[in-house]
Amino acid sequence: MVVSIAPYCLSFAQQAGHSNNISKHIALGDVAETYNNFIVTMSVLKDIFEHVLYVPGNHDLWCRQEGEIHLDSHQKLKKLLDACRGLGVETSPMVLDGLGIIPLFSWYHESFDREEEITSTHIPSLEMACKDFKACKWSKGLSNGDISLALYFDAMNEKHQSLIKEIQNTCSQIISFSHFVPRQELCPEKRMLFYPKLPKIIGSDCLEARIRSIHGVEGSPSACHVFGHTHFCWDSVIHGIRYVQAPLAYPRERKRRMNGGENWLPFCIYSNGKFSERLSPCYWSDYYSTHPRTPHNTQLAPWVATFYNQT
Ligand SMILES: [Fe+2]
Repeated sequence: MVVSIAPYCLSFAQQAGHSNNISKHIALGDVAETYNNFIVTMSVLKDIFEHVLYVPGNHDLWCRQEGEIHLDSHQKLKKLLDACRGLGVETSPMVLDGLGIIPLFSWYHESFDREEEITSTHIPSLEMACKDFKACKWSKGLSNGDISLALYFDAMNEKHQSLIKEIQNTCSQIISFSHFVPRQELCPEKRMLFYPKLPKIIGSDCLEARIRSIHGVEGSPSACHVFGHTHFCWDSVIHGIRYVQAPLAYPRERKRRMNGGENWLPFCIYSNGKFSERLSPCYWSDYYSTHPRTPHNTQLAPWVATFYNQT
């Protein structure tokens, strides 16, 4: 499944890079499940784009592939970061043509979800629904069940503090990026979701704190954070920071998209010294630009209710 993502994404990256003469590519994680596919994908991206930046996603750290020897996810993470170094893929903050670009390591924690629970139907547990719980192997007292992984990944950003300071002092435009979601408002409410427990496995409060320490508590017109993981198109400004997600998504998800979304290429967020116009259409952030969030309403949306009645 995830293995097919690599060649699938590559064909779009190739089109986007070649046809638009774009030199930078941000890979937001979940590149490949196997080490070999990761290497192939990043090598091709590096052939297409002069600069490639990467942060790890959860799928990248799965260790269940047969025939590969990964003692645990820590070791796989180290191997991926070593591979990036060897290929010239950046995982540290850098300045390109005056634009500051800051990768942020992150992992989700359950307490990120602060909204009311759906209790009207039986929803499978996180362990049942999320493959990370089995496919990722952690040691050092870390686990998916608490905040330890979120803190562990967040601490990896510490070593970049002086580079980040330098970027803050020299760049008026900064893009930070992460695999995971920094704020719960960047995901639809539970009653809208086929898996209403999704907010428990998507985001990190530590991440939002990092983002605010970079862009400022108030943000600025040239502050942008790009994120991934949930596959919901998103483009909204919250407290002065523009948050963008432009997923290529799985083939089956692309087929469901309306308005020609099946043909979308990777989104060009910045060119010629300027941030691009708002991503459009953007179903859920468009929806929330005109509808208030009402998480106390726990009545399932019709498509979710139908789904649970059938199962
Ligand atoms: Fe992910």
